[in-house]
Amino acid sequence: MNDTFQRSPLLLLSGRANLPLASEIATLLGEEVEDCATIKNFADGEIFVRINQNARGRDVFIVQPTVSPTDSIMELLLLIDAAVRASAARVTAVVPYFGYGRQDRKDQPRVSIGAKLMANLLVAAGANRLIGMDFHQHQIQAFFDIPVDHLYAAPTLVSYFRSKTFEDLVVVAPDAGSTKMARGFSKKLNATIAIIDKRRPAANVSEVMNVIGQVSGKDCLLVDDMIDTAGTMAQAVKALKEMGAKRVLAAATHPLLSGEAVKRLVEADVDEIVVTNTVEILEENKCDKLKVMSVAGIFAEAIKCVHENKSVSKLFEVPS
Ligand code: R5P
Repeated sequence: MNDTFQRSPLLLLSGRANLPLASEIATLLGEEVEDCATIKNFADGEIFVRINQNARGRDVFIVQPTVSPTDSIMELLLLIDAAVRASAARVTAVVPYFGYGRQDRKDQPRVSIGAKLMANLLVAAGANRLIGMDFHQHQIQAFFDIPVDHLYAAPTLVSYFRSKTFEDLVVVAPDAGSTKMARGFSKKLNATIAIIDKRRPAANVSEVMNVIGQVSGKDCLLVDDMIDTAGTMAQAVKALKEMGAKRVLAAATHPLLSGEAVKRLVEADVDEIVVTNTVEILEENKCDKLKVMSVAGIFAEAIKCVHENKSVSKLFEVPS
């Protein structure tokens, strides 16, 4: 052990896409984030960033979900570039929601692979590593030729559902893609599993074809990585209710909640919508049925572990 070893001091920065989450993370780490960078727009919308503190030789973490509009991505790239040019020792992009993750393969002729392009952009800007959560597909980790710490919201969400009383709980995957997530939840909640056979005739349009599994007379918990238009979840809630489900709850890590998503779910007669704060919830989306769980603790602990060169595996466990 070298007694003279000195760890580069941590510097926490945030873009403007989810300042409440970044502030929570900062508080948990005993850091400040609000005034660490100046971010402004030119009259035409072009973004300007400046790091307000010495970044030379520091271990820089930049919190920014790459949500729509795409300015959030550009802002993150500019912050990474500013940190690199300010001689940071290491730059970690902390991306609570990885936008463009849905475009992860060439499933039709002449389409782009947005998730790979995003990975290329972050690495080209100078990110040395990435901390993310519940990617649309776990394989997205392989799009990066830098280390990726892929975190899960499950410990937070499962702890919440364990505190509730259910009658004969079934965890339901609203489509084949979310089966792995549903299986994980069902194991941790001692529940059975059902799978919805979903068809997507066009982007953001979904149709339920079949429900595979027993749901009649049971409480159902739908789990997915994200709720965008809520078309997938609302169709699933309706289908489960038609098949005799008692209560239907919907849980997702990333609350994109575009347009009338919340209204759509409430009209479908969902009992509760449980999401995390990887994406900032707009005022108009807040309602009694929407419960937001914070994942700031998971991110703060991951940043601490990465900074101290410690394993992050403990963050995957659901506290009993
Ligand atoms: C699909 O593969 C995803 O896991 C989500 O089910 C989907 O992106 C949610 O989109 P929406 O809420 O618009 O149906």
